[in-house]
Amino acid sequence: MIPWKQLDSTDIPNDGGQLHLYQRDDEFSIRIDNCELMNSRAHGSEEKLAELGCAGLGKTEQPRVLVGGLGMGFTAAAALLQLGVNAHLEVAELLPAVVRWNREYLGHLAGHPLRDQRTLIREIDVAAIIKTSTQLFDAILLDVDNGPDGLTQKENDWLYSIAGLNAAYRALKPGGVLAVWSAGSSAAFTGRLRKAGYRVREEQTRARGKGKGGRHTIWLANRC
Ligand SMILES: C[S@@+](CC[C@H](N)C(=O)[O-])C[C@H]1O[C@@H](n2cnc3c(N)ncnc32)[C@H](O)[C@@H]1O
Repeated sequence: MIPWKQLDSTDIPNDGGQLHLYQRDDEFSIRIDNCELMNSRAHGSEEKLAELGCAGLGKTEQPRVLVGGLGMGFTAAAALLQLGVNAHLEVAELLPAVVRWNREYLGHLAGHPLRDQRTLIREIDVAAIIKTSTQLFDAILLDVDNGPDGLTQKENDWLYSIAGLNAAYRALKPGGVLAVWSAGSSAAFTGRLRKAGYRVREEQTRARGKGKGGRHTIWLANRC
């Protein structure tokens, strides 16, 4: 078996530990300490997040979509596939090193979504965009942790709290959708989405697409 090689590491703010990039042959892995956040061989559900979250937006004249975070770019690339030429895709990535890794090592995996003229990459906490936006986005696609709990950084808990969900509601246009990726289901999170006023649908999807790999959850929460 080919051993993993560590390509780079970066600090996570607020003493959150380190994020590491590993490579083994043509496979890449992003990990927080020993916990895998993303693997290049399993991206079916990350793409599904965009397919479901952007469904129907291909017919919208100038849709505006926010993706948090970049990871290996699969969600961003799948969103671009759904959207027309006048779309605006804002991708928020907390860690500048992840953006650099996409430019140096990972871009080819998802077809270089950062090179698309519709993409604006911002090195920023997605929470900062959500907090300061009003009726701006047709869709907000969140895949920043392994579920509705702050894993990358403790501060991400806010995104899944009532305060964060209320802010995302305000940031969406009427009828807009908040789509959230998770490794597993959470009745408590579904309850919070409903309490914040969303119409909620929960989809089960597979990690590798075509019915293969682990089962993941995607919440689709519409602003009424
Ligand atoms: C699981 S990966 C995303 C995988 C991505 N969906 C894909 O298709 O490759 C999580 C990413 O979110 C970033 N991230 C974590 N917290 C964030 C935040 N608050 N704002 C923006 N990006 C964040 C991480 O640095 C990491 O790049």
